[in-house]
Amino acid sequence: MSDAASLVEQLESLAREAVDALESAADSESIEAIRIRFLGRKEGRISGVLRGLGGLDPADRPQVGAAANRVKGQLEARLDERLEALAGAADQESAPDLTLPGRGSWEGGRHPVTRVMDEIWDVFRAMGFSRARGPEAETEWYNFQALNTPLDHPAADEQDTLYLEDSVLLRSHTSPVQIRTLEQHEPPIRILAPGWVYRRDTYDATHTPAFLQVEGLVVDEGITFVDFKATLAEFARRMWGAGTRIRLRPSFFPFTEPSAEVDVKRVITRDDGSTHETDWIEIMGAGMVDPAVLDAAGVDSERYTGFAFGMGPGRIAMVKYGVDDLRTFFENDVRFLQQFVPGGTR
Ligand code: DAH
Repeated sequence: MSDAASLVEQLESLAREAVDALESAADSESIEAIRIRFLGRKEGRISGVLRGLGGLDPADRPQVGAAANRVKGQLEARLDERLEALAGAADQESAPDLTLPGRGSWEGGRHPVTRVMDEIWDVFRAMGFSRARGPEAETEWYNFQALNTPLDHPAADEQDTLYLEDSVLLRSHTSPVQIRTLEQHEPPIRILAPGWVYRRDTYDATHTPAFLQVEGLVVDEGITFVDFKATLAEFARRMWGAGTRIRLRPSFFPFTEPSAEVDVKRVITRDDGSTHETDWIEIMGAGMVDPAVLDAAGVDSERYTGFAFGMGPGRIAMVKYGVDDLRTFFENDVRFLQQFVPGGTR
């Protein structure tokens, strides 16, 4: 066998040896070790054989050189193939397990009290009301006196009210928006005024020092008690269903005359189609606007009359969702709030 033929033979046998070694290489380090052992520039066994190329008859060199390149190229390709196969297997291990149960994506929802506020607003908007707002820091004048409430009235008691400075306080109800609206707009007026109100209440199951209220005010020529009662009855039917009835209980508010507490009685349809009526549930305070209120706001009380009402969506949400502790509305516990996401619990 010529020197050249034996060199090629040697190269091929070395390559086979390398490929055999590769069979049992289980990680990239052992593959790299094989690469160095056979193809490394200094110590590599194939490289060593090629160094013998110089002693060959120059005529044989091209043939051996070409064979050497082929063998090296093939071996390199096998090494790379093995490396890629290993990397692919590693990817597979960290790939998602499609047999696991799904982990649904997060979906936010409106707060239960906001939902009730929005439902109330939808009903009154459809009846032609517009939205009004007023400041949360109010003067005694707007919060009390203009609403026909003298400062020595129990409602104006410092014990119940959070004062910021002399004669400026956090509004204790949304009724001051009545005065601000009457000052700014000529009747006819039909407004709904939602917002936060503040009282020095202890934080417990039925009281929170800050809570939402929504105020309603209608003032125009010829507004009577009939308009008052019919509007609230229609509100109740649209809010809680056609069978809902309202009841007016005589009451007292300084800014209305006469005044009433409004209760609703709802008809609940059970799953089997049978129905039953709920107890009377108090939902708001209301009444015909006291002429003194119109006068205080500079509105001619000989010409105009009106009615007003105020309710707490938080209280209504408690009844609606069967929540027995107001504080759950403030704690932002996701397990509680998730129940109100339209798609259900996720
Ligand atoms: N402002 C009253 C409160 O906070 C609620 C209220 C009662 C508002 C009667 C009214 C009304 O407009 O007419 O308790």
